[in-house]
Amino acid sequence: MPVSTSHLHARAIAGAPEALRVDGPEGLAAIHWPGTALVLWRREVPDRLRALLDGLPFAALPHLRLEAVDAERAGEAVARALGARAAELEPLLVDVAELVRLYARLVERPIVRVRLEAIRDDACRRFHADRVRWRLLCTYRGPATEWLARRDVRPAADGMPGEPEPAAIRRLERFEVGLVAGARSPIPCIHRSPPLSGTGADRLLLVVDEGPDPAGCAC
Ligand SMILES: [Fe+2]
Repeated sequence: MPVSTSHLHARAIAGAPEALRVDGPEGLAAIHWPGTALVLWRREVPDRLRALLDGLPFAALPHLRLEAVDAERAGEAVARALGARAAELEPLLVDVAELVRLYARLVERPIVRVRLEAIRDDACRRFHADRVRWRLLCTYRGPATEWLARRDVRPAADGMPGEPEPAAIRRLERFEVGLVAGARSPIPCIHRSPPLSGTGADRLLLVVDEGPDPAGCAC
């Protein structure tokens, strides 16, 4: 593995030795460690980013699907896609571009897929593994991605992960960055988009992966 990770300080999460918590962006490279399904980086974001996101009505949340972004020029690509709204959404644009570059460095892919999804339904309600090798997730608004420790995954009759005990469901935090292993990795992270119907909540979710995978979900 070309990425050197021996210096990283990553801590296993209680009850989920395949999931690691790290203190900084470089720590996410621990996804390369054998047996790792998920690495989480809980972070602070600028107040102006939080205020911008809190102030937008659902209809004004940006929705982007960029299939092939040169990560080193992610800011330009996202600005182009946002068009006239790029200035208004600048704090978000800056953060998205940083996370795109981070993902590209971590997985050594110069060209990546970037999606910003505004969600207010039960998208990807079932627990699943993504059909990619690695995916970066960050929930900018609303309830964040839910995941299961490997020991809590129970197969359903169709072979997919079944509905777990509610107490087994773990959740990322808003703005927390998760680097998750997908079905093309030895130990995929089983996760879902939290069900929203009837809650009145909505979400804004960033998904960065290697793409292309036309049949794959974005959650
Ligand atoms: Fe997913």
